[in-house]
Amino acid sequence: MKFTVAIDGPAAAGKGTISRAIARHFGFAHLDTGLLYRAVGMKGGDPVEAARSLTDADLRRDDLRSLEAGQAASRVATIPEVRAALADFQRRFARREGGAVLDGRDIGTVICPQAEVKLYVTASPEMRARRRWLELGGEAAPRSLDQVLAEVRERDARDMNRAEAPLRPAPDAVILDTSDLSVDQAVARAIEIVQSRL
Ligand code: C5P
Repeated sequence: MKFTVAIDGPAAAGKGTISRAIARHFGFAHLDTGLLYRAVGMKGGDPVEAARSLTDADLRRDDLRSLEAGQAASRVATIPEVRAALADFQRRFARREGGAVLDGRDIGTVICPQAEVKLYVTASPEMRARRRWLELGGEAAPRSLDQVLAEVRERDARDMNRAEAPLRPAPDAVILDTSDLSVDQAVARAIEIVQSRL
């Protein structure tokens, strides 16, 4: 069975949690496509070459979840040749046997416009900054809430305003705003949406 769930949305909206829960619930494979861009951003050197020669070891670096890697990713993600170099791998993953969930910024719009389910997961910048800040340790975090909010806004602006594959919902995406939902509520709603298309 081939079945693709495309999940897009801004940073820290809950895409990762929702994608992992859908994959677990339905037994689908999951690809966090942001990791590909993070690995390219952190590899150094020419980003286009980095994207063309990405290895498993690059994807296993333990600093890929840092704020620095997120910023580096959003810079290299503006380069069309970088995006092109990563597209085939993502498309093959999407059509693997047994179902696949991909989360990113352009899965429903560019990578898999034919996906059986498209979700656009979003939340207010303030909510997303607070969640990211709490993940980083809250009061013990190396950054203040205001700094994290500024970074969230900066990354949103770069992702939404770039010429190549800007972040936006596909015309037929279901919008899931998680601002006022608990994790469990957001996950339950996403599972319901996928179930209704199976
Ligand atoms: O989702 P994550 O925060 O890991 O993504 C890091 C950055 O990689 C995003 O801010 C975005 O610029 C870029 N990205 C992208 N397309 C994707 C996934 C991530 O442009 N499909």
